[in-house]
Amino acid sequence: MNALLAAEGLSLHFGGVAALSDVTLEVPEGSLLAVIGPNGAGKTSFFNCLTGYYRPNRGSVRFAGRDITRLPPDQVAALGIRRTFQNVRLFPRLTSRENVLAGAHLRATSNLVAMLLGTPALRRQERLLAEEAEHWLAYVGLAGRGDVLAADLPYGMRKRLEMARALIAHPRLLLLDEPAAGVSSVEREELADVVRRTWESGVTVVMIEHDVELVMRLASTVAVLDRGRLLVQGPPEPVRQDPRVIEAYLGRRQR
Ligand SMILES: Nc1ncnc2c1ncn2[C@@H]1O[C@H](COP(=O)(O)OP(=O)(O)O)[C@@H](O)[C@H]1O
Ligand SMILES: [Mg+2]
Repeated sequence: MNALLAAEGLSLHFGGVAALSDVTLEVPEGSLLAVIGPNGAGKTSFFNCLTGYYRPNRGSVRFAGRDITRLPPDQVAALGIRRTFQNVRLFPRLTSRENVLAGAHLRATSNLVAMLLGTPALRRQERLLAEEAEHWLAYVGLAGRGDVLAADLPYGMRKRLEMARALIAHPRLLLLDEPAAGVSSVEREELADVVRRTWESGVTVVMIEHDVELVMRLASTVAVLDRGRLLVQGPPEPVRQDPRVIEAYLGRRQR
């Protein structure tokens, strides 16, 4: 399998803190990679380096063969990488539908003149987009909630709304930062189901997740970060049994 995404030698420092130290990791096209590791291990920083939110001090990121290390977030998104945030980032005063439509923004090809003139072509495009927004709302289990303000949705639904906003862009790579954190066990299953279906539809997925049991069930590959370093990467079961992982992550977590 070809690497859709390849991080090489990523290092990131905040003052004296090394959030990432020489992280080299490949994500094959079609894989579902879970990134696990204790709090502060550098997982979110890793996502931020992949998506232009942070600039690594050293190293590079390649996506589909192209160097994206220094691209700003909007350009990374336009290339087909979409993400969700550990602390959900929606437009709270917009409806669910509007939030999903916002995700289609960088995909839209309408030019300014067409927009100003309100041509039939543009109106048709808008209608199609509205239908697509309904589709993605239903896909994540939010059918009928399109008119609800994002701020008024329960937490678990906000997390799924963020996924719908990412999916309407038809990403090639979807990055999920703790999609199942802080939600009920029922919602966790719903989220797992959305992730699985998305992956099965051909989207490459990288998911940061604390729920080891969920990770073991879903992921094709698991990568473990610890104190900014990549400890190990491999199939779920061997990684779970790896003594370094038990020591660094599972062991410490159980204390
Ligand atoms: N914007 C920032 N400014 C300062 N320190 C940061 C910033 N972002 C992350 N860090 C630090 O980098 C380390 C890794 O954080 P993070 O990537 O959020 O870990 P994780 O997502 O694995 O919990 C932590 O020590 C954290 O405090
Ligand atoms: Mg994090």
